[in-house]
Amino acid sequence: MKKQPSSLRLYIALTLLLIVLPGSAIKVYCGQQGVQAIITQAGRSVSAAPAADAAGGLPANLVQVHATHNGQPFWTETRKDKVRRFKCSQCHDNSTVTAENAAAVAHGDMVLEHGGAQKPLTCFTCHKEDQRDFFETQKGVVIDMDHVDELCGQCHFRQKRDWIGGAHGKRVGNWAGRRVVANCTACHDPHSPLFKKRWPATYALPLDKP
Ligand code: HEC
Ligand code: HEC
Ligand code: HEC
Ligand code: HEC
Repeated sequence: MKKQPSSLRLYIALTLLLIVLPGSAIKVYCGQQGVQAIITQAGRSVSAAPAADAAGGLPANLVQVHATHNGQPFWTETRKDKVRRFKCSQCHDNSTVTAENAAAVAHGDMVLEHGGAQKPLTCFTCHKEDQRDFFETQKGVVIDMDHVDELCGQCHFRQKRDWIGGAHGKRVGNWAGRRVVANCTACHDPHSPLFKKRWPATYALPLDKP
């Protein structure tokens, strides 16, 4: 018999493997009706969410986001408890702010650098003038401070869309269980939102000196 060239033998072997392997994989998978069926047959819940949440690690104060992702709800950390001067209405009660040390309590330390020279934003682009505890959109929709994504999202709708899908921002808590994400102002200063360029905190060590 004529000796087959080794490359042809390899070719035949590979072809056989490609036919046999997926076939057996499908057989195993179909025979057991898939992973979800195995879990259900064992009397367990397919969703591990409650167990994962019970294991801890979820941030303390959560609100459900008013948007959904793939029809699924998700949550974000509250903001009001993190805003130092909340409640604003302690001072801004629609009368003249009366404070003995107004210069010290006013917000002169705040730098508003948002919107660029073309279209600079003003305080009341975002804050509701007659109800300082809330935001107001350009269309007059009043927004609770815990839902700051709705304020930013009216203008930055692409980042908002990415944030909903998980491509912008950051998940906090657990990878399994309830999906909780950081809200926009956990990372961005709303008054000067652009991250400044900066040098690395340390230089790389020379490779030959550990
Ligand atoms: C401790 C008192 C105090 C608190 C709390 C406070 N403010 Fe103020 N705020 C002032 C004073 C004083 C001024 C300057 C006086 C003025 O312009 O009426 C001021 C000015 C402002 C202005 C400038 C526009 C204007 O003239 O009214 C905005 C906007 C503002 N505050 C928003 C807020 C928001 C939003 C909060 C809550 C997150 C808040 N403030 C909480 C005392 C306060
Ligand atoms: C782009 C929207 C936007 C603009 C414009 C804006 N703010 Fe704010 N401001 C916010 C948001 C959002 C927060 C809450 C931040 C958070 O969630 O931590 C806030 C928080 C504050 C607070 C509370 C900060 C704290 O930690 O106690 C004060 C006071 C305030 N703003 C005053 C002003 C003043 C005065 C101006 C105008 C000079 C202004 N803001 C302009 C969005 C805005
Ligand atoms: C009323 C519209 C409006 C709202 C509300 C608003 N922004 Fe902006 N934002 C702008 C504009 C306009 C710019 C400037 C865009 C540019 O220069 O390309 C900007 C710039 C930015 C930038 C810098 C981007 C860059 O490339 O310079 C960031 C980050 C940002 N905004 C985040 C936020 C966050 C976070 C919020 C909510 C707290 C918010 N914005 C709310 C209009 C808005
Ligand atoms: C986990 C932190 C984090 C969260 C949460 C977050 N961002 Fe950002 N964002 C960033 C970083 C980091 C950049 C890139 C900054 C750079 O390239 O200089 C960025 C960039 C941006 C920019 C500039 C344009 C761009 O895409 O590079 C905008 C506008 C913006 N974010 C808006 C938002 C809005 C609106 C939300 C909430 C819906 C949000 N971000 C939530 C970290 C965050």
